[in-house]
Amino acid sequence: MSTARVAVVLAAGKGTRMRSAHAKVLHAAAGRPLLAWVLDAARGAACQTVTVIVGHQGDEVRAAFSDQADLRWVEQREQLGTGHALLQAAESVPEDALLLVLSGDVPLLRPRTLAALAAAAADGWGAMAVAELAEPGALGRVLTRVDSRGALLERIVEHADASEEQRAICLINAGIYALPAREIFGYLRRVTPNNAKGEIYLTDALGAAARDGKPVRLVALEDPSEAWGVNDRRDLAAAHRRLLDRHALALMDAGVTLLEPARTVIEPGVMVGADTVVHPDVTLLGQTVIGSGCVLHQGAWLRDTVLADGAVVQPYSVLDGARLASGSQAGPFARLRPGAVLEEDARVGNFVEVKKSRLGRGAKAGHLAYLGDAEVGAGANIGAGVITCNYDGERKHETSIGRGAFVGSDTMLVAPVRVGDDATTAAGSVITQDVPDGALGVGRARQRTVDGWAARRPRGGGHSHKKE
Ligand code: UD1
Ligand code: MG
Repeated sequence: MSTARVAVVLAAGKGTRMRSAHAKVLHAAAGRPLLAWVLDAARGAACQTVTVIVGHQGDEVRAAFSDQADLRWVEQREQLGTGHALLQAAESVPEDALLLVLSGDVPLLRPRTLAALAAAAADGWGAMAVAELAEPGALGRVLTRVDSRGALLERIVEHADASEEQRAICLINAGIYALPAREIFGYLRRVTPNNAKGEIYLTDALGAAARDGKPVRLVALEDPSEAWGVNDRRDLAAAHRRLLDRHALALMDAGVTLLEPARTVIEPGVMVGADTVVHPDVTLLGQTVIGSGCVLHQGAWLRDTVLADGAVVQPYSVLDGARLASGSQAGPFARLRPGAVLEEDARVGNFVEVKKSRLGRGAKAGHLAYLGDAEVGAGANIGAGVITCNYDGERKHETSIGRGAFVGSDTMLVAPVRVGDDATTAAGSVITQDVPDGALGVGRARQRTVDGWAARRPRGGGHSHKKE
C-alpha cells in the first residue's frame, strides 16, 4: 500500500455545546489546549506531515499554535460536517498516503493507538478505533459484521440519527481512523448531507466503503477513555481529570506517594522523584520538577518551580518560578515569586513574600517579611516584618545582606543598600545607608518616657471609667 503516513486533524467545528466565545479545541484539559494533546499523539506516530483543518474561529486556533512550525493549516470555510472537513485536505496530502484522521476534540488518544490503526489498515482497506463505553452518550454507534479475520465495520449511526435500539449499542466510534487517501476522498465526494444535522458525515463515507465490501477493521481501544470526545463542559472536566489520573498513576508506579490522587492536580509535564509525599489539595503545574524525598503539604500550589531532593513545602504556600535546594523549606503560607531561590537549608516561613531574591545556605526569614531584589548571605536572619523597600516609584533597586547578618524585626531596608557580613540592624530601623561588616545600624527615633501619663491622660465622656 502507501508509503507516506500523514495526519489530518479535524478542528474546524463550531463546538456549539461548549457555549463559549472561544474555539472548542483551545479549551484546556490538564493545562493544555485539547488540540495540543491530539497534535502530540500525531507527532508521536511518525507522521510525515500534520495538517490541521481549521475554520470556525480558525484565526484564534492558528494564533495559539503559531510557534509550531511543523504544522500545516487548511481552512474549512463553512462547517458542513466532518466529511466536508476532511475533504478540504484532499489537495494537500499525497494521493497514495495512508491518512491518519484525528479529531481535535479527542485529547486522550495515544500514539500507539495510531500505530495499531496503521497496522490494521494495512491488513484491510482502512481501520477505525472503537470502544465499549458503559455510558456512550452522544457518540456515534458502530454496527459491525465479521469476516474470517475478525470484526469489520458495517456502518456508523450518529446519535442524532439513531433509533432507540441503536442507541442501546455501547460500541462507539472514537473518531480516529487510518484510511487510504485517494479512495476515502473519492467516497467523501459522493456523500450527501442526508441526516438529522444536515452535515456531510465522514462516517457516511466509511459506511459507503463498507457497503462496497472494503474491509474497515475495528481496533478496540485498550483504554476506552482514549475515545472520549469533548463536546461540552462536562466532557471537558472528565477529560481533564482523566489526563491527570493517567499521570498520577504513572507517578505512583514510579514510587511517588500521592495520599489522595483525586484531590491533587499534577499536570502531565511535571516530574516528581521517588519517595516524595504529596498531601491532598496540592497543585503542581507547568515545568515544575520535584526531586526525591520531598514533602508537599496540603494546599501547596507550585508552578514552574524546581525542588531539589528533600525540600519541603509547608501547607498553603504559593511558589511560582522558584528554586529550592536540598533541605530548604517554604511555608506555611509562604509566597515565592519568580526568581526566588532558597539555598541548602534556607527557610522562609509564615506570610513571607520573596521575589527575585536569593537566600543563602541556612538563611532564615521566619515571619511576615517582603524580600524583593535581594541577596541574603548564608546564615543571615531576617526578623519578623522586615521589608526591602525595593521600588522608588520608578525603578527597582537591590538590597544586599551579608553572611550571618541579623536584620532586626520591622527593619525597612531602603534600597539600594547593603547590610554587611555579621552586621546587625536594630528593630524598627529605617536603614537608608550601608551598614558595614560587623556594625550595628540603628535608624529610629529614641524612645521618650513620660512618667505618670495615666493620671494625666484625657478621658472622653463615652469612655468614662467612673463607677455609675
Ligand atoms: C464525531 C463522529 C462520531 C464520533 C465522534 C467521536 C461524525 C459525523 N461523527 O461526532 O461518530 O463518535 O466524533 O468524538 O464524524 N469538525 C470540523 N468541521 C466540521 C465539523 C466538525 O472540522 O464541519 C471537527 C470538530 O472540530 C471536531 C471533530 O471534527 O474536532 C468532530 O466533530 P464533532 O462535531 O465534535 O463531531 P461529534 O458529534 O463528536
Ligand atoms: Mg466531538
